[in-house]
Amino acid sequence: MKFLKATPVNIKKAAAVIKAGGTAAFPTETVYGLGADGLNPVACARIFEIKRRPRFDPLILHAATISQAARLFRRVPTPALRLMKRFWPGPLTLVLPKSAAVPGIVTAGLATVAVRVPANPVARALIKAAGCPIAAPSANRFGRLSPTTAAHVKSQLGQGPDIILDGGRTAIGVESTIITFIKGRPVLLRPGGLPLEEIEKIAGSTVPAAGSELRAPAAPGCLKHHYAPLAKLQLIAPGQHLKPSKSAAYLAFTKRPQGRFLAVQVLSRRGGLRQAAANLFSALHALENSGAKKIYAERVPAHGLGRAIMDRLRRAALRRENTK
Ligand code: TXA
Ligand code: MG
Repeated sequence: MKFLKATPVNIKKAAAVIKAGGTAAFPTETVYGLGADGLNPVACARIFEIKRRPRFDPLILHAATISQAARLFRRVPTPALRLMKRFWPGPLTLVLPKSAAVPGIVTAGLATVAVRVPANPVARALIKAAGCPIAAPSANRFGRLSPTTAAHVKSQLGQGPDIILDGGRTAIGVESTIITFIKGRPVLLRPGGLPLEEIEKIAGSTVPAAGSELRAPAAPGCLKHHYAPLAKLQLIAPGQHLKPSKSAAYLAFTKRPQGRFLAVQVLSRRGGLRQAAANLFSALHALENSGAKKIYAERVPAHGLGRAIMDRLRRAALRRENTK
């Protein structure tokens, strides 16, 4: 594995590795991805191995332009095109019936494919130089915290990827919002870096979350126990009174808690949900590294990016209950 700064020369190197069937981790505006040639099934299989990801969990394809993205879909319905034009490049993933060009391993055998056009300049340059769509799930071990720095990738995937491109901290910090269409209407599969409210403005209607009308599992990777820190995570109300504990860590939204904890992280002193999202995974990584057995995490308001933050925290909390 080569750990390289994301300079133009090194981006070209990573593109050559991907073209040749290798893997490269790279920054996007949401989280780091572990990339391979999205049209090369053997290269995509490496992603599953390195992540130890089950094969039933499909990958997202990353394209450089709307037209490259559109070729991966069988057809682009008008409401989808409207979202593409407004939000790409950016933290939005669309799920639509796939074109014949997309290998079955990418979609885990589903008839639909997830595609997005990322905004991060390193990601864009890499996809352009590789000349192919890049399949890239978040660059973490399956079921673990998503990486928002190149160091997070290295600590989880180690020597796995051929290259890790270090492009600094990711700006948004939570994964993309995933939208599919049912009878022409947008439906939310995963809350993420693009606030639902913004999508609803463009769609001209409310965007419901995928529910029972979808044949399950709608987003196979959205397993209840995703995004898991190693410690047991418990959701609490901000400022809730707790027994002080030397073995517990505390994730605060805006204010440090009273009492002593092994480690404390504050997501945003001024209560900004964007800032909180950007800090979320780094903060959880830090609390996990403190060796705490338990993490108390304050709830945040569930609007804007708060919806994605709460989604990730709830899943982290559930995982531990399920495996107790
Ligand atoms: O921001 C992001 O989306 C990041 C960066 C790297 O682009 N990627 C990411 O990928 O979060 P991943 O693999 O960690 O999450 C992709 C999610 C999974 O939950 C997967 O099940 C879902 O997308 N997905 C992929 N293809 C799908 C499909 N055809 N139908 C429904 N869900 C799909
Ligand atoms: Mg992931």
